[in-house]
Amino acid sequence: MAIQAVRGTRDILPDEVGAWQRIEAAARDLFARYGYREVRTPVFEETELFARGIGAETDIVSKEMYTFADRDGGSLTLRPEATAGIVRAVIEHNLLNTDPALKVFAMGPMFRRERPQKGRYRQFHQVDVEAFGFTSPTVDAETIELALAYLDACGVRQHELVLNSVGDRHCRPAYVERLRQALRDVAPSMCADCQRRADTNPLRVLDCKVEADQATIDTLPRITDHLCEGCATHFAEVRRQLDLLGVPYRLSHRLVRGLDYYVRTTFEVTSDLLGAQSSVLGGGRYDGLVKDLGGPDAAGIGFAVGMERLALLLPPREVEPRCDVFLMPLAAAALDRALRLQRELRGAGLAAMLDPEGRSFKSRMKQADKLGARFVAILGDDEMARGVYTVRDMARSEQQDVPEEKILDHLKEKANG
Ligand code: HAM
Repeated sequence: MAIQAVRGTRDILPDEVGAWQRIEAAARDLFARYGYREVRTPVFEETELFARGIGAETDIVSKEMYTFADRDGGSLTLRPEATAGIVRAVIEHNLLNTDPALKVFAMGPMFRRERPQKGRYRQFHQVDVEAFGFTSPTVDAETIELALAYLDACGVRQHELVLNSVGDRHCRPAYVERLRQALRDVAPSMCADCQRRADTNPLRVLDCKVEADQATIDTLPRITDHLCEGCATHFAEVRRQLDLLGVPYRLSHRLVRGLDYYVRTTFEVTSDLLGAQSSVLGGGRYDGLVKDLGGPDAAGIGFAVGMERLALLLPPREVEPRCDVFLMPLAAAALDRALRLQRELRGAGLAAMLDPEGRSFKSRMKQADKLGARFVAILGDDEMARGVYTVRDMARSEQQDVPEEKILDHLKEKANG
């Protein structure tokens, strides 16, 4: 029996790859305009990095990591997200010494052992953006505006920005304690996950999607009512600047996100076109993470876009032409000339192809159509005798004779014109 792809992984086939290249190109182009440079970090890291960085009690770390013993007994993990690895690299290479205001982005595969469904995979890809060393709310607003500008650059319009502040080490512990107290009375009537989280990670209760729990969750204390002055002022300024930039958002005190490193601003962009896995991107501030992982006391903020989900939202595109010139040597002696011309055309930067199997005329015309060939150059007995090619302009359905010695220049001019 033939072997199939591992559950939760998928192949990005040639017909889809154009869309992926477009979203990668849009990222490189746009992020550079905001001062970001690309960084590439390994896909596996020491397990401890994620346990310390993302939080041992999170679903990601406790249930979803691909962790394996290395042959020398160490524990390695396929990265479930990009932030922790980038922070590790920033610390390891002292990047903040030379550039105290550092902006980097990354793209690549991430791994989480979740239950696969539409838009949710075990190997998926993120475009990830991180800014280090900025504490100002201006950077929160700029980062959020960048996230939306990126979706816009990809042609994605139907979405909603959800915004929250999750407080910081001054106000969140007291709030979490309040939440824990409040949950003590109500958790026994909630779902099994909430009962467990009420104790281990009460904030995660706010993320519960179980219908029967929603009324109870509405009665719980809200973080936004318990922010310290610093966090409240910061959040007010982020909102003011978003208003200033004309970025619409919906406030949700329940947006707690699935990673423990967040402080203050958190955000997500959702689209109802995506179904159950509606979040196309998520991010927030993580001041404290760089220090927790052994680096300087530097602020951080960023977001990651799910590329599979983004690809699902892209507007449809016509099939892109893959061939400028399709050569058709029909006479037996024509093949050698066509091979030389093919090489010259390719050298001149054109996509040139021919059918090396020498199939029938009809079947070759079909191939040319399928490739979206713009021109077909025919060299049959009659053309050979007259020293010309018959060049057919496929879009216009016109054809003309072109002398052999002029064919290269003619095709170059036509294809580039
Ligand atoms: P996250 O919310 O866990 O955040 O993931 C960001 C995005 O990755 C999601 O909104 C979703 O589009 C995509 N994603 C996550 N899991 C899957 C999956 N199993 N299959 C397909 N797509 C998925 C982070 O990862 C943070 N590191 C973002 C960040 C960067 N925060 C600050 N800087």
